[in-house]
Amino acid sequence: MKDITIAIDGFSSTGKSTIAKLLAKSLGYVYVDSGAMYRAITFFAMKEGKISTEHFDRDGLISELPNAKVSFKFNDSLGFAEVYLNDINIEKNIRTLEVSNLVSTVAAVPEVRKQLVKIQKEIGKNKAVVMDGRDIGTVVFPDAELKIFMNASAQTRALRRYNEIKDNGEAITFDAILENVQKRDHLDSTRKDSPLLKAEDAIEIDNSDVTIEEQFQNILKLVNSVL
Ligand code: C5P
Repeated sequence: MKDITIAIDGFSSTGKSTIAKLLAKSLGYVYVDSGAMYRAITFFAMKEGKISTEHFDRDGLISELPNAKVSFKFNDSLGFAEVYLNDINIEKNIRTLEVSNLVSTVAAVPEVRKQLVKIQKEIGKNKAVVMDGRDIGTVVFPDAELKIFMNASAQTRALRRYNEIKDNGEAITFDAILENVQKRDHLDSTRKDSPLLKAEDAIEIDNSDVTIEEQFQNILKLVNSVL
């Protein structure tokens, strides 16, 4: 069986990463959460005092970028890779609402995108990869054999994120999450560099009303049709 590249793009909290992880596991492929990389740079910018809800020192962040090494390490017990910033595991630091509220501003900076896209292309150069994000089918892997664009209603997506964040122990309201999801969708779709866009050859899937298992089986059929 030949190895292929699978690009999964879509709006926030559409369940991209859940499906991508299941696919990677069943195919024996590498899974890459590209959103975690933008979150890692955002966390770095916060730590360096380059961004907060009050200010954004864009040029300051750009000049510090060479000092932000983002990488992944496979966690055997979890069965997927976790994100590291300068060799420190920051998985627990990057899923907070604070990071979610700032990440789209950081992700709109072309220098940030350039640095991360280079790493993403390198990870995927031998194929056998499932990567999810916003520009994977359009910019990172325009030649991917299978491109999926996932969507779901804003309510469904916010509820998903709400449950995820609550499970992590962060005190948060559903309305704050809904606002964040809608704001990020807007910023991600309207930025100049690599906006969130369905690639012309992507297959669009709305998963508002299907279970994860149904969705996984549907996507597996698509994978088998291109293998
Ligand atoms: O996937 P996740 O919701 O964790 O992504 C966080 C943010 O990272 C997105 O809202 C977007 O601003 C940015 N992102 C991006 N390009 C990608 C993946 C994520 O701009 N390929």
